[in-house]
Order: sequence, then structure tokens, then C-alpha cells
Amino acid sequence: MIRWVEVMVKIIGLYRCKSRRNAQNPCKLSACSKAELGNIMRKKIILITGANGEIGHGLINALHAKGLDNILALDLHPISEEIENKILKGVMGNILDKNLLEQINSEYEISAIYHLAALLSTRAEFSPQMAHEVNVTGTLNLLTLAVDQAKSQDETVKFFFPSSIAVYGMGQRKDAVGAINENEYCQPESMYGCNKLYCENLGIYHANYYHRLADDFKPGHIDFRSIRFPGIISVKTVPTGGTSDFLPEMIHAAAQNIQYNCFVQNDTRMPFMVMPDAVLAILNLMNSDKSRLSQHVYNIASFNPSAGEFAEKVKGYFPHAEIGNSVNGKRQGIVDSWPANVDDSAARSDWNWSPKFDLNSAFEDYLIPQITKRYEK
Ligand SMILES: NC(=O)c1ccc[n+]([C@@H]2O[C@H](COP(=O)([O-])OP(=O)(O)OC[C@H]3O[C@@H](n4cnc5c(N)ncnc54)[C@H](O)[C@@H]3O)[C@@H](O)[C@H]2O)c1
Repeated sequence: MIRWVEVMVKIIGLYRCKSRRNAQNPCKLSACSKAELGNIMRKKIILITGANGEIGHGLINALHAKGLDNILALDLHPISEEIENKILKGVMGNILDKNLLEQINSEYEISAIYHLAALLSTRAEFSPQMAHEVNVTGTLNLLTLAVDQAKSQDETVKFFFPSSIAVYGMGQRKDAVGAINENEYCQPESMYGCNKLYCENLGIYHANYYHRLADDFKPGHIDFRSIRFPGIISVKTVPTGGTSDFLPEMIHAAAQNIQYNCFVQNDTRMPFMVMPDAVLAILNLMNSDKSRLSQHVYNIASFNPSAGEFAEKVKGYFPHAEIGNSVNGKRQGIVDSWPANVDDSAARSDWNWSPKFDLNSAFEDYLIPQITKRYEK
């Protein structure tokens, strides 16, 4: 299919160049065919996979607010009503379906890929083989698509990959060390963490070393940028399948007056942020000048309350909230392997990362007003 499109591009390119030569305007085939005719034949888009998910919703809303709606949104499930009018087109399909990706490759000219589709941490632990397929093979498929696009356009394609603090494995050292940087403790203890760490490296390989032994080797087909997110709390969606879901579940339950049993101990501490800051970070990183970026993968942090501290905060706003504990030792073990805090100084200095919300303003200005509105009858 790709070859067929390239052949067509060349044939039409020859025809257009011939017309120009006739018009006393000589041009070389290579100079005018691909770039010019690619525009005619393929629509320019941004591709977002996993568009229906928590971050997909937030990102598409934010891009739409900035006037960007040439988005091709791909997800396993039909694109939700909330975002379907903010995109160019929704595609229901699987990132493992190479025919579908090939079809997208031939129909569209992709300037950037936000590859959000994944199997999250708890689900990945129940189905490690499937997690590897979706999280690793799926990411490889998208990186291959990005390289194909870059070659056919002769332009770098930007690629955003949402990584996670699950790439860290603290062993028994979690409480003994402070905020850790991107290069420390990268010994994941979950399938999801292994998948994320490997895909970060796959992205870096595709950006810098892809086909390095080939005669026509050229680095920079893709511009790979990644953030290791902490747990994310959103008022719009209740997460499923993640191991950091205990804080979002707690506040969504309290707002609906439902009793909640937290699956980790009260003294469990890990970093979190609210969705508007997660989306802000993606946009800021993707819009930063490449020359300012000293690395491909960045930590970011906002606040890191213990589960008990967060529960007290929730009770301050919902005094009748019933929050107990029903500790799941296995999930506790995974959270214990994640750091209590991360050092995000590289993101702060390279692309001016600074969260808009700390714990207090997250409650006061985002969580409480919006979650109350969401559940009011
Ligand atoms: N939400 C968090 O707290 C958090 C933290 C760190 C990293 N991340 C990463 O951010 C990304 C998005 O997370 P999210 O919270 O929006 O997840 P989510 O589970 O809400 O959304 C993932 C979406 O991907 C889709 N999907 C799954 N498999 C697919 C496949 N094979 N083909 C096409 N679509 C598929 C799902 O249908 C879903 O809509 C993921 O890569 C996740 O690992 C999220």
C-alpha cells in the first residue's frame, strides 16, 4: 500500500514537473513531488491513540480549545460523544491491526503522534502477555508508522509517549531515599513498568539510531518526547485498571456519598497530579524548542500526600464521607515499589515545567468545584 502511494506520488510528481517545465519553470522531481503532492493526496493530521481514555479526553479538549481539531482519534471503543465534535475523525480500531495503521499511513499526513493507548498497570499484571502485545508491540507499530511518515514527508514527526513512575523499582528503599531523578532505580517490578521503560528506549532508538547500519542511515526521523507521569486525578473520568487509582476512586466515591475502602495502607505515599496539569505538561513539552531539551524522558511532580492525608482532606470537604481500608497486599506491593517522590528539576529547567496546582489549590480550585457539579442531582 505504502509503495503504491509512493509510486502514485512519483507519477503525479512527474506530470506536475513536466507541466512546470513547459511553463519555463524547471524543477527537480525530488524537490517538488513528495512535499507538494503529499499535501494534495493526504490530509494533514495529528494522530491520537487511546483517545477515549482519561488523558485522551483532557488532551483533545485542550487541543480543541487552542483551535487544533485536525485530529484523527483512534481507540478500541467508539469515540465518546464528549470529544467526537472536537476532532476531524474517530476511528474504532486496534493499534495491533497493521492493516489499519497502513491505511492511516496512506490516507493521512501525520505531523505528530500522541500515543496514549495502553493496558494499565493492574490489568497488565493480570495479563502480562497481552500487556506486552498492546504496550510494546503496539508502541513499536506506532513508532514504525511515525518513521514511515517522516520518510515519505521528508519531515520529522513528533512523537509523544506517556511513560510512568512504574518504571522505577524501589525495593525496600522507598522511605530511605528522597526525590529520585530519571536515571536512578530504573528496575521496574511490574509488567507495565517493564513495558514503559522498554518503550522509552525504543522511542529513543527510533529517534537517534533507527537502521543505523543502513547506507542511507539518518537520525532524527522522529522527535521522541516522553513524560513519566505520576498518578493522575481527573474529575471527568473514574479510572479503571491502574494501581494508582486509590486517590481518584476515594474522591469520586465521597462526592457520590458512597463508602470507599482504600486498597493501600494510610501511610502509603506516591506522587500525584491533577489532569489539567498533566495535559499542560504534554502541551508544554511538545511545544518546546528541541534545542532546549537535554533528554527525551522527563519526570514531573506536583504533590505527594499519603493515602491517609488525602482521605483527611477529602473528609474536610465531604464530612460524611466514609473512607476505610481494605488493603490488597499484592497491589500494595506494587505501589510500594514506586517512589514516594520524583525529582523534576530537568523538566523545570529545560521546558519551564511548573504545575499550576499544589495539593490545596487542586482541592479548592479544581477537584471540589468540578466534582460537586458533576455529581449534583
Ligand atoms: N492516568 C494515569 O494515572 C497515568 C499515569 C501514567 C501514565 N499513564 C499513561 O497514559 C496513557 C493514557 O492513560 P489513560 O489514563 O488515559 O488510560 P485509559 O485506560 O483511560 O485510556 C487508554 C485508552 O486506550 C485504549 N486502548 C487500549 N488498548 C488499545 C488498543 N489495543 N488499540 C486502541 N486503543 C486501545 C482504551 O480503549 C482506552 O480508551 C497510557 O499510556 C498510560 O499508561 C497514565
